[in-house]
Amino acid sequence: EQINKGKYEHYMQKEIHEQPESLTTTMRGRLIRGGSSNRKSVLLGGLKDHLKTIRRSRRIVFIGCGTSYNAALAARTILEELSGIPVTMEIASDLLDRQAPVYRDDTIIFVSQSGETADTLNALEYSLSNGALCVGITNTVGSAIARNTHCGVHINAGSEIGVASTKAYTSQIVVMAMVALAIGADTISTKPRREAIIESLLELPGKVKQVLKLDEEMKDLAKSLISEQSLLMFGRGYNYATALEGALKVKEVALMHSEGILAGEMKHGPLALVDEHLPIVVIATRDQCFSKQQSVIQQLKARKGRLIVMCSEGDGTAVCGSSCRVIEVPLVVDCLQPVVNIVPLQLLAYHLTVLRGYNVDQPRNLAKSVTTE
Ligand code: AGP
Repeated sequence: EQINKGKYEHYMQKEIHEQPESLTTTMRGRLIRGGSSNRKSVLLGGLKDHLKTIRRSRRIVFIGCGTSYNAALAARTILEELSGIPVTMEIASDLLDRQAPVYRDDTIIFVSQSGETADTLNALEYSLSNGALCVGITNTVGSAIARNTHCGVHINAGSEIGVASTKAYTSQIVVMAMVALAIGADTISTKPRREAIIESLLELPGKVKQVLKLDEEMKDLAKSLISEQSLLMFGRGYNYATALEGALKVKEVALMHSEGILAGEMKHGPLALVDEHLPIVVIATRDQCFSKQQSVIQQLKARKGRLIVMCSEGDGTAVCGSSCRVIEVPLVVDCLQPVVNIVPLQLLAYHLTVLRGYNVDQPRNLAKSVTTE
């Protein structure tokens, strides 16, 4: 076991630091750049025979649990944008509780690291019986979800041992961005946008390597939060998922209450919690929601909120002056920014856990794969 951890103390730590390599493996052979016009495209062998059917779907539904659900949420907007098809989100157990309508002309994408999660598998069985086209996105070749879906894409992130999913999350987002590119590949008007995303995908492992240099800074931040009862995370747009996933990491390994909140909902309740004691992470990297997040920061500051602001490199002083703690991250194309932004929060959760003396790789009460309902 020790050997597999290499130079790292814990699997979670190793898997966080492995992300530049796991992302490279996820993309290997799937991004094509070449020809006289330097054309850029995506090739997903497991989907190519089904793309026509997917493009004709009435809607696309993402189904998953926990981190896999969050990864799908991070990819939802780009899939809607590039496919022009409505994309809805379902937590597997909730779909089943509601026996929600599923149609023959739906494409349902099942996202699961293990490919064995009982709730997701049951939702798959239910969707198959309703006649939908079922697509699997898993990290486990030969898993039940990979076997029982009509088609799919492996994320090829390598085995993930830590109960807290880290590298699978970033690889899942990258795969779903590639799925969006493949579905949208026949639309001429979005070609420049697609090419910009492919360029950014190619640069992504380097950007993740850069953001991993925040390790010591995140350890230092963790020290300042070690005795807190709670940590809120505010995000919106592409980074609502980052807030949910950051909070999930903190609660599952550091055993600290943490909640990801949609910043647009702040005034509808959460604002009442704000005071000078409660730490709040606000994700305010550059994208179409940036000015709205700046206004959120101003409103939180007006209530003396204790802010930790994640912003794009060079934006620190402009975004929050000198009164809050800043995490500066490299800028990438908007739809891939969640891949970069989650890394400091994974590091924060990891260091908080070690400093608080909890079991990083096997948090109490949790299993890596939840094979019962
Ligand atoms: C992730 O950190 C969690 N351990 C958990 O939420 C997990 O993502 C969830 O149980 C789904 O697992 P799956 O991806 O293997 O289906």
